[in-house]
Amino acid sequence: MADVAFDYTNLTEVEGGIMGAEISQLSPRLEEAANVLLREPPGFMRLPKTAGLSEQSKTLAGEIKASGATDFVHAGIGGSALGPIALHRALDHPYHNLLANRSGPRIHFAENTDPATLSAILDIVDLSNTWVNVVTKSGSTAETMANFLVLRGALVDAVGEEAYGERVVFTTDPEEGYLVQIAEREGIRRLPIPPDVGGRFSVLTPVGLLPAAVTSRDVDALLRGAEQCVDEVTREGAEHPAVVGAAYHYLMNTERGRNVRVMMPYADSLERLAAWFVQLWAESLGKEGKGSTPHGAVGTTDQHSQVQLYMEGPQDKVIELIEVENHPRDLPIPRAYEDLEGVGYLGGHTMAGLLNVECDATRKALLEAGRPNATIKLAAMDEEHLGYLMQALEVQTAIAGSLYGVNAFDQPGVEAGKQITYSRMGRPGY
Ligand code: PA5
Repeated sequence: MADVAFDYTNLTEVEGGIMGAEISQLSPRLEEAANVLLREPPGFMRLPKTAGLSEQSKTLAGEIKASGATDFVHAGIGGSALGPIALHRALDHPYHNLLANRSGPRIHFAENTDPATLSAILDIVDLSNTWVNVVTKSGSTAETMANFLVLRGALVDAVGEEAYGERVVFTTDPEEGYLVQIAEREGIRRLPIPPDVGGRFSVLTPVGLLPAAVTSRDVDALLRGAEQCVDEVTREGAEHPAVVGAAYHYLMNTERGRNVRVMMPYADSLERLAAWFVQLWAESLGKEGKGSTPHGAVGTTDQHSQVQLYMEGPQDKVIELIEVENHPRDLPIPRAYEDLEGVGYLGGHTMAGLLNVECDATRKALLEAGRPNATIKLAAMDEEHLGYLMQALEVQTAIAGSLYGVNAFDQPGVEAGKQITYSRMGRPGY
């Protein structure tokens, strides 16, 4: 069982905090938002109980590993990349690609159209043993298709026109888009992204499950954690802490003018989880002049970079710390220099102990400085907890969409730039 706790005490106890009466006043709307979520569940709520997608992902991952693949290139951007990257960074060894005894191929992410990145991937991979996973729900995103075309050219050069298709996977809409046409033309295998699941809510589809299975992560545990979250939300409705959190963040933004929501995990491995959340919150809620600006930070590193601003800068932020109770690894700090008081005190503690003490210290210091903060505490850092947390943050975002009165599942604001790009790059019809 995942043990994920949400603590909003310091959003109420801080000077100018949210009062119980305000939450009560918002209650009917919060209840209605939770009822709508459960009555007409958006696609992402169904994913944890959709075993078919994980079975397909696990089977293909098994085939990729059995083929002796040395490299797996995941080409995708936005919601088609941030979730898988977050999982990889949270769960795999930080130097996965350098490990001699890793289980599965090296993994590379081609997101941007920066030629330096793609060239570097091509420098590294062994093209004769490389699989390419092209991930785009629409099947037409310029960045992903450009990365695909370059990777395709390199694969064809290395293994020939015939064999290249055996090493390519398209993760895309099951019915629509250019990848469906290309797949049919070239006999390329496909994994589906359910049509009713938007990119940034798709981490628990093959978008996130295939790469996780390729690096030998336990995708069943990931889904189990997410399912636990869905079950709890179903049982508790507007009382579920992730749902309640939507109310706090909404009120902090609309009633207290706190326009920035900082997510600051105290774990390097969760840095990209914050990046995933930044997209989720920004693209889902930043509409019609509404929404708060999400920002990612990491503790303790950013204590030496941004915390000065959080403590004494403008009163426009809510800081959300993520604390991991039991880190997957720890190191004792050896005793040495005990005669030097500024060094010797560290000996006998552990690195994880220091990390968590610093998290607690930041929480207390923020409170004392009148800076609203919340904490999400994960009992452990594993697939189950990650699955729960990501599902809970998706729930919170969907609920916040209802409170703001915006559609959390579209992104009209990114269209204009796309149209201009298409026109400048000579796409017919633009
Ligand atoms: O959340 C979203 O819908 C977007 O961020 C998309 O994931 C992103 O634009 C990539 O789209 P696609 O998967 O169609 O290539």
